[in-house]
Amino acid sequence: MRAYTTGVCFLALLLVLNVVNGDNPYRFYTWKITYGDIYPLGVKQQGILINGQFPGPTIDCVTNDNLIISVYNYLNEPFLLSWNGLQQRRNSWQDGMYGTTCPIPPGKNFTYALQAKDQIGTYFYFPSLGLHKAAGGYGSIKVYSRPQIPVPFPPPSGDYVVLAGDWFKRSHRQLKYFLDGGHNLPFPDGLIINGRGWNGYTFSVDQGKTYRFRISNVGLATSINFRIQGHTMKLVEVEGSHTVQNTYTSLDIHLGQSYSVLVTANQPAKDYYVVVSSRFTSKVLTTTAILHYRNSFTKVSGYPPAGPTTQIDWSLNQARSIGRNLTASGPRPNPQGSYHYGLIKPARTIILANSAPYINGKLRYAVNSVSYLSPDTPLKLADYFNIGGVFSVGSMPDRPSYGNGYLATSVMHADYRSFVEIVFQNWENSIQSWHIDGYSFFVVGMDGGQWTQASRSSYNLKDTVARCTVQVYPKSWTAIYMALDNVGMWNIRSEDWARQYLGQQFYMRVYTSSKSWRDELPIPRNALLCGRARGHRTRPL
Ligand SMILES: *[C@@H]1O[C@H](CO)[C@@H](O)[C@H](O)[C@H]1NC(C)=O
Ligand SMILES: *[C@@H]1O[C@H](CO)[C@@H](O)[C@H](O)[C@H]1NC(C)=O
Repeated sequence: MRAYTTGVCFLALLLVLNVVNGDNPYRFYTWKITYGDIYPLGVKQQGILINGQFPGPTIDCVTNDNLIISVYNYLNEPFLLSWNGLQQRRNSWQDGMYGTTCPIPPGKNFTYALQAKDQIGTYFYFPSLGLHKAAGGYGSIKVYSRPQIPVPFPPPSGDYVVLAGDWFKRSHRQLKYFLDGGHNLPFPDGLIINGRGWNGYTFSVDQGKTYRFRISNVGLATSINFRIQGHTMKLVEVEGSHTVQNTYTSLDIHLGQSYSVLVTANQPAKDYYVVVSSRFTSKVLTTTAILHYRNSFTKVSGYPPAGPTTQIDWSLNQARSIGRNLTASGPRPNPQGSYHYGLIKPARTIILANSAPYINGKLRYAVNSVSYLSPDTPLKLADYFNIGGVFSVGSMPDRPSYGNGYLATSVMHADYRSFVEIVFQNWENSIQSWHIDGYSFFVVGMDGGQWTQASRSSYNLKDTVARCTVQVYPKSWTAIYMALDNVGMWNIRSEDWARQYLGQQFYMRVYTSSKSWRDELPIPRNALLCGRARGHRTRPL
C-alpha cells in the first residue's frame, strides 16, 4: 500500500513538474529551512539550517541524475536557494536567483527539478536572497562520474567535503543594513571550516590510504589559502574539469571556487592541522581543522603552518600552472581535449570592468558603470509573459563606458550557439571573483595591467580548465572563452557578496527564436509567480 501510494505521488509530482528526462534516475530531497542557534565562532548566532543542519546536507549524485528538491520555507521571510555550478541546461527557471525565480514566501514550499546534465565535479548550493549566505544555508554538491566512464585516478578511500570561508558574528540582517545604508561590510570576524572554528572539525584517515578533499570557498568577502600540515595535495578536479595532477603544498581558492585534491596519509601517525587562511587581506585570518590518523595518539600542538607570504605573483603562477588533462574523460567517455576551444574564433568580445561608484551618495558596485537594480518581477518571468517595463535588453554595454556609475536592471543580449570572448578588466586594487550561472567556460588568460588585443598572444589555447568561477587579480585582467550553448536568462555576478548585493552583477539573455523544448524547457507548472507576473498562468486554461 505504501509503495503504491509513493508511486502515485511520484507520478503526480512528475506531471506537475513536467519532467521530461525520464531515462535517468531520480533523487528526491525534502528540505525544511529553519532558523536555529549555531556557534561557528563560539558565540551564539541565528543560523539558517536545512533539516536542522549547518552546513546543509550534501547532494551526492551521478552525471545526468534528476534532482527533485522540495524546499519548505519556515523562515519568517522569503527564501531562495541557488546552485553554484550546476548548469541546469535549458532550464534557467530553476536557477534560484531572483532574476529567474520568485522567492518562496514564508510558510510556503517550492520543488526544484534540476538535472546534473552532462556534468561531473564539485559545486555547492547557497541561499541567494539578501545576505542570507552570511547565516549559512549552504551545502556541497558532488556529481560523480557514471560507472562506465573512467575517472583518471583510483577510487579514494574517502571523499570529504570542505566548505570553508570567512564568517561574521553579525547577523545577515545587520550586514544587509550596512550595505543598504551605503557602507561596505566590516572585516570578517574569522574563518570557518564546515561550520566550525578552531579545531572544531575532524577529518579521520587511515594511515597509507588516499582521500579526496572537495574544497569550496563559501565565504562572502575573502579569498582563502588551503593546506594540510606535513602533507602535499594532488590537484585532480576544478569545477568539473579533471586536471593535470600537479602536486601543491597549498592552494589559493577564491570566492565561489571549488577544487578537488587527493591527499595520501603517508606521514607518521599523529594529528595534523588542516589550515585555511585569508588571502589579499590587510590582516590574515586563520582557522584550523584536524586531520586525525585513526592510529594516532598525538594531538596537534604548536602553530599551524603559515601560508604563502607573497600575493599576486605567487597566486597568478599557481593559477597558470593548473591545466586540464586532455586525455582524461569528463562527463562523457570522450577525452576532455576533444573539444578544441582554441581553434574556434570568438564571434564577439565583451569587456567587463568593475568599479565602486557612489550613486546618490551611497556606495554601489558596478559593471561597465551599470549598477544592477533588482526589479519587482524576475526577468525570466517578465520575458516569458511579455511584461514590459521590467528590463530592456541591451542595457548592459559590451565595453566599459568610463562614465559615472548609474543604476539599471542590466540585461545583455546574446545569441544562442555563438562563441564569445569575455575579458574581465579589474582597475581596482582589490581581488575580484566572477561567476557565470548556466555555464562552464575556458579560462584562456590572466595577467597584470590593461588587457589589449596583443594580450591574446599569451592565451592558453590548448589545455586550460573549463570552470564556472574565476578570479581577477588587483589591477589585472582575466580572459575566458565561452560557447553559448544554454538558452535562458543567466546571472553573471561577483562572488564577493557585498559587491553582488550592491550591483556588481547582470543577466545575460541567451536567446533563440525557436520554441522547441530541445532548446529550452517550458516554464515549470509549479513556478511561483510574483510581482507583475502574479495572476499569469504557467499553462493555458
Ligand atoms: C506545497 O505547496 C503547494 C503549492 O503551493 C501546496 O499545494 C501544498 O499544499 C504545499 N505542501 C505542503 C506540505 O505544505
Ligand atoms: C591524464 O588522464 C589519463 C587517463 O585517465 C591518465 O592515464 C594520466 O595519468 C593523466 N595524466 C596526468 C598528467 O594527470
